[in-house]
Amino acid sequence: MILPIIAYGDPVLKRKAKAVTPEYPKFKELIENMFETMYGANGLGLAAPQVGLSIRVFLVDASPFAEDEELSPEERALYASFKKVFVNAEILDEEGEEWAFSEGCLSIPGVTEDVFRQPKVTIRYQDENFKEYTETYTGYIARVIQHEYDHIEGILFTDKLSSLKKRLIKGKLNNISKGKCSADYRMRFPEMSKKR
Ligand code: NI
Repeated sequence: MILPIIAYGDPVLKRKAKAVTPEYPKFKELIENMFETMYGANGLGLAAPQVGLSIRVFLVDASPFAEDEELSPEERALYASFKKVFVNAEILDEEGEEWAFSEGCLSIPGVTEDVFRQPKVTIRYQDENFKEYTETYTGYIARVIQHEYDHIEGILFTDKLSSLKKRLIKGKLNNISKGKCSADYRMRFPEMSKKR
């Protein structure tokens, strides 16, 4: 089932999300619905707060990056099959010199900006069966993980922009929070949530 994506301005996107336990109701179904929602919106990642749930769950599918011809065949193979659920993730370490990459977000349609982040991330997380892993990622995978991880910490990529950039996009963000934007997927805007 495709879920509506929560738009910028909803307080759930600013909240630090809580850990989940194996007892969470219909957990597998939620993961399936989140994947369907992400693919329906052509996203590379989706975090639970973006479907209105303040829990520490996010998905990443890095396969679109496998098209990048500047990558080595090994990297392309890694990206092509990289589809993962991160449950109760904690970033343990970030390393290296920050690099800029143009980011967007399904909750903030029509806005893309260069965001600076470190290139290497070590993360501890559980999979959908609550089996624990600690892994280190670099490149685009690290980038998507950092963006999605920020969502479960209540941080949006627009929070990481310079104050000048923030001023420049303020009008657009205000419009999104009022539902004045277009996206080719279903969204839920803060005004609509208030009425419910
Ligand atoms: Ni996002």
